[in-house]
Amino acid sequence: MTQPETTEDIIKHYAGLIIPKDFNGIIDQPRIVDDILGSGHLSRYPPSKSFQLQFLKAVISRLESTNEEVDDNIYGRYLELLAAKPSAVLSSGPPEPSYVTHFYKTANAQGPPKTITLLESRTTIEAGTTGLRTWQAAFVFANWLLQHPGVVKAKKVLELGSGTGFLGILAAQLQAAMVLTDCNAEVLERCKFNVFLDCTNHPSITIRTLDWNDCLSNSLERDAAFAYLHELAADVIIGTDLVFDPSIIPALVATLRLALDASASSVSRPQTEALIALAIRRESTFAEFKAACNIIGLSVEEESLDGAGCGPFTHNPSRSTSLNVADHVSLLRIRLFGTREAKSGPAE
Ligand SMILES: C[S@@+](CC[C@H](N)C(=O)[O-])C[C@H]1O[C@@H](n2cnc3c(N)ncnc32)[C@H](O)[C@@H]1O
Repeated sequence: MTQPETTEDIIKHYAGLIIPKDFNGIIDQPRIVDDILGSGHLSRYPPSKSFQLQFLKAVISRLESTNEEVDDNIYGRYLELLAAKPSAVLSSGPPEPSYVTHFYKTANAQGPPKTITLLESRTTIEAGTTGLRTWQAAFVFANWLLQHPGVVKAKKVLELGSGTGFLGILAAQLQAAMVLTDCNAEVLERCKFNVFLDCTNHPSITIRTLDWNDCLSNSLERDAAFAYLHELAADVIIGTDLVFDPSIIPALVATLRLALDASASSVSRPQTEALIALAIRRESTFAEFKAACNIIGLSVEEESLDGAGCGPFTHNPSRSTSLNVADHVSLLRIRLFGTREAKSGPAE
């Protein structure tokens, strides 16, 4: 989502927790009243009160700067929020969790856009975990998946380190049979909460614990993980922003190897591959991850992300434009050495 040009864009910004900046169009106030303040969905799954306050302040400032009379409903709601003094505005603690709703359309789809609604934390690390909010590589990968839905459609897909469940829900809406995994109990609870929101359309999602550390060395835990992964026999493995700390690399690559071996050993799935999108924060960590894959017997190819910076999903264009977000994300296609190494274009 880039700079807003229409009131429709402003509504999407509100739902996606983005303060509209540099808006030069005419604000259609009745639409703000009906489609934001009066929206059944956004009232049931609202952004945090502190976000609502900031958002309405920005809208009112914009209207005042063009000498437009502000609709009573917009002013009234703003004053109500101001009087309620949201704790996050006043306190120095972490901002309160907030619902966020993403809108998207699949290629050639008619009718209203589809939605994904999530309850998310607003900080990158909270309660000792990184998994309570959606990270930027997930949005870039989601845009890419919209361009390549065949990668997951009608496939059994295993997601590693699922976090809030955003990508898994999208893949399920693209008709994948999803298994979402993570190691953190609070993250898994939040993921479950999001997957089972009444408004979430999720034809097929299973959520379960999978801790990469269990896959590191010969142990009962590793045997149990292998048995599960063999039975699952995933067609595709996906994951985003999993290499946020170099210390997790050995466990993560061991898990990728185990999951690919487990699928390959199930006769019907000889060609499973993993698609892992990583935000590159440090080149050295990225290189370390690729080298660790090679050492353990996995080939790594970079997939083109052309256009994936320009889809409907983004975390916050005020921090970086959607295009340069894609520049810093790499999508890796990871396979067991010797399986389909010659690349024949993006799988569809
Ligand atoms: C940076 S977050 C990314 C979450 C999500 N994939 C996204 O892109 O929004 C990393 C995720 O990996 C999970 N994780 C970290 N260590 C793990 C481990 N040892 N086993 C399984 N999951 C792990 C975290 O709980 C968290 O959900």
